[in-house]
Amino acid sequence: MKKVDVLLGLQWGDEGKGKIVDVVTPQYDIIARFQGGPNAGHTLIFDGEKYVLHTIPSGIFRDNTINVIGNGVVIDPIIIRQEIEKLEAKGIDVVSKLLISKKAHLILPTHKILDKFSEEQKGKKKIGSTLKGIGPTYMDKTGRNGLRIGDSQLSTFKEKYDHLVQKHKAILGDYDYAEMLNEFEPKWFEAMDFLSKFTLIDSEQYINGALKEGKTILAEGAQGTMLDIDFGTYPFVTSSNTVTAGTCTGLGVAPNRVGEVIGIFKAYCTRVGSGPFPSELDNEVGENIRQIGHEFGATTGRDRRCGWIDLPALKYAIMINGATQLSMMKADVLDSFEEIEVCTHYEINGEKFDYFPYDINSVDVKPIYKKIKGWNKDLTKLSDLKEAPQEFLDYISYLEQELQTPITIVSVGPDRAQTIIRN
Ligand code: GDP
Ligand code: IMO
Ligand code: MG
Repeated sequence: MKKVDVLLGLQWGDEGKGKIVDVVTPQYDIIARFQGGPNAGHTLIFDGEKYVLHTIPSGIFRDNTINVIGNGVVIDPIIIRQEIEKLEAKGIDVVSKLLISKKAHLILPTHKILDKFSEEQKGKKKIGSTLKGIGPTYMDKTGRNGLRIGDSQLSTFKEKYDHLVQKHKAILGDYDYAEMLNEFEPKWFEAMDFLSKFTLIDSEQYINGALKEGKTILAEGAQGTMLDIDFGTYPFVTSSNTVTAGTCTGLGVAPNRVGEVIGIFKAYCTRVGSGPFPSELDNEVGENIRQIGHEFGATTGRDRRCGWIDLPALKYAIMINGATQLSMMKADVLDSFEEIEVCTHYEINGEKFDYFPYDINSVDVKPIYKKIKGWNKDLTKLSDLKEAPQEFLDYISYLEQELQTPITIVSVGPDRAQTIIRN
């Protein structure tokens, strides 16, 4: 029986998952999202066009591939409808290529309002949420109050919806939500009608049946390991398990049915939203990386915080995910740098750490760097590593040795074509 391969982020998201899923999709029959929702923004660029996907798996542009939204995903009908309509306008037959788990939970307009309300209450301590309603929706899921997309086929759907909205209104009290609710609620029900043309499935049956038939499946992660609800920089995290284990619960794949785990990371590091980021460069170098790397959020347009690559965080992420191979992204962004730095460990109160201690929010974490000579050449037209500058090859070898995992994919530009697959 075949196994499910997994591709996920090892940092704080936006590593370039969408791009690589699209690149490797021709090797797979099925691409499946297992967690997260429209907080994600996955960018794909090919044939001179750019697309950003939020809920839809990044295999949607290739023929002969089925895309599955798993039970672990949360869906905002309004946002997914917009995504689908954009794709349909490009001539893509989304209805025949997209299957949705009946068990995926729905993001209600009031979940979005609750997200905003919660962030406002936190004040300076806010998470920096994308305000897409992710946290409140997962809270209702684990609190056993949630509404699932499969419920839309029940005669009691509206009743269930109203019941949940009443609960939310009780929490919101006299918070001023009327305008938002009036704006989103009609669109939400229209979008639910629009979605009725899609096939809702028991995705765990579908996925396991496909494996039995010898089909190849890739699970596409959203966010990144350092944003995982259990293993990320809590409480500055998202509300789902973004790690390999999330594939098991978010698709119904047994642990022994997980195959290759491809961990993606940038040749440097970024984070959007609040929370600790030890190797952050709050200076001109960071600003340079932001400008050259176009580090602005694909979902919210916010500035992404930029910094050097963080080896302790990467080693931790590789351990938690059982990553068997790595994909290094955006090395081209460092093309003009004479020198590159790598965070090898941290110093906290004079003590050396090579992992994140429990409390990294209230202590002063000092990153310790190793300086590396830059390659100082244009990588964006590189198609074979045989022609790569020696300093770049040395950087790859150094990382492979530190991370004890092979780098099998090297990305040197945002386009589908700017990708080097190594044996
Ligand atoms: P995702 O959320 O992990 O799919 O990543 P995002 O799409 O949010 O962010 C990655 C950004 O980097 C996008 O703008 C991509 O077009 C871009 N990108 C991906 N790979 C590369 C690369 O190798 N080089 C450069 N310069 N840009 C890249
Ligand atoms: P992709 O899939 C980067 C961040 C938010 C915030 C925190 C919680 O594109 O890599 P949430 O809306 O989930 O409650 O926000 O997580 N965040 C992301 N950062 N990439 C993402 O997704 C993210 N999804 C959420 O900025 O700090
Ligand atoms: Mg993104």
